[in-house]
Amino acid sequence: MTDLYAVIGNPIAQSKSPRIHAAFARQLRQDLRYEAILGPLGGFQGAVEGFCAQGGRGLNVTVPFKLDAFALATERTERAEQAGAVNTLKFEGAGVVGDNTDGAGLIADVRGRLDVMLQGTRILLMGAGGAARGVLLPLLREGPVSITIANRTVDRATALARRFHPFGPVEGGDYARLAGRRFDVVINATSASLYGEVPPVPSGIFAPGALAYDMAYGSGPTAFLGFARDQGAGRLADGLGMLVAQAAESFFLWRGVRPDIEPVIAMLRAG
Ligand code: ATR
Repeated sequence: MTDLYAVIGNPIAQSKSPRIHAAFARQLRQDLRYEAILGPLGGFQGAVEGFCAQGGRGLNVTVPFKLDAFALATERTERAEQAGAVNTLKFEGAGVVGDNTDGAGLIADVRGRLDVMLQGTRILLMGAGGAARGVLLPLLREGPVSITIANRTVDRATALARRFHPFGPVEGGDYARLAGRRFDVVINATSASLYGEVPPVPSGIFAPGALAYDMAYGSGPTAFLGFARDQGAGRLADGLGMLVAQAAESFFLWRGVRPDIEPVIAMLRAG
C-alpha cells in the first residue's frame, strides 16, 4: 500500500518539499505519496488528526507550526528538545515522535557535500532566532574551537549562548564586538536575506579561505553572499543544500534509507 506523507505550513504553496520528497522516492524506489497541507492558523492539531485519520505516516512541519509540533509530540529526540522546535513528525501507533532535522541538514551539507570540516574552526553564527537555535547543538557536536553568536538584539545572543554553554565553547554578543576578529566559517541564520539586507558585520571578518554560508536561498546569490564575495570569502554557499539535506534526514527517519542529495539540489537549481 502507498504510504502517505506531507508538509504542513501556512502559507504552503511555495514549499519545495513535495518535489524534493517525490525525487527521493523515485531515487530509492519507495512507494509513497507526499502532499502539501495548508494548515489553518490556530488549527494545527485538528489538521494533524485529520491527516492521521487518512493513514498519514509522517509530516514535515514548517512556519508557523514548529512550536505546535513540538507540543504535540509525545516523544522528542534530543536535537528537537535542544532546538526547541520540531520540523518532522513520525506517527507510530498511538505515539508521535518529534524530531528536528535542520541542524543535521546543515552539517550534512557543509561536511558531506561541501567537504568543509568544522572541527577546530572558529564559527560565527549570525542571528539568535529559531533558525540559529536549531543548528547550535549539531554545530557544537562537530568540535569547533569557538562559536560566536552575533545578533542585533544583543540579549537574545547572550541568552542563547548561556543556554548552549554546557555543550561547548559558545559566546554571544553584538556585531560591533566582531571588529578585528577572523572566522573560518560564517553562517547567516538571520532573516535579513529575505529583505535583501546584510547583517551589520564589520569588514575583515573572513579568514583566508573562509566559508560563507547563508541559510536562506533565492534565484541568485543572497545579499550576504554578495557581501562575503566582495570581502574575499573563500567559498560561498546558500541554504538550498541545507533544505534538501534536512529533507533527506526526515526521509531517513521515516523510511530508514538515505537519499543522495546532490541530484536533487541540481534538479531544484535547474528550476
Ligand atoms: P527565525 O525563526 O527565522 O530565526 P526569528 O526568530 O524571527 O526567525 O529571528 C530572526 C533573526 O534574524 C533574529 O536574530 C533577527 O535579529 P533580532 O533578534 O535583532 O531581531 C535577525 N534579523 C532579521 N533581520 C535582520 C537584519 N536586517 N539585520 C540583522 N539581523 C536581522
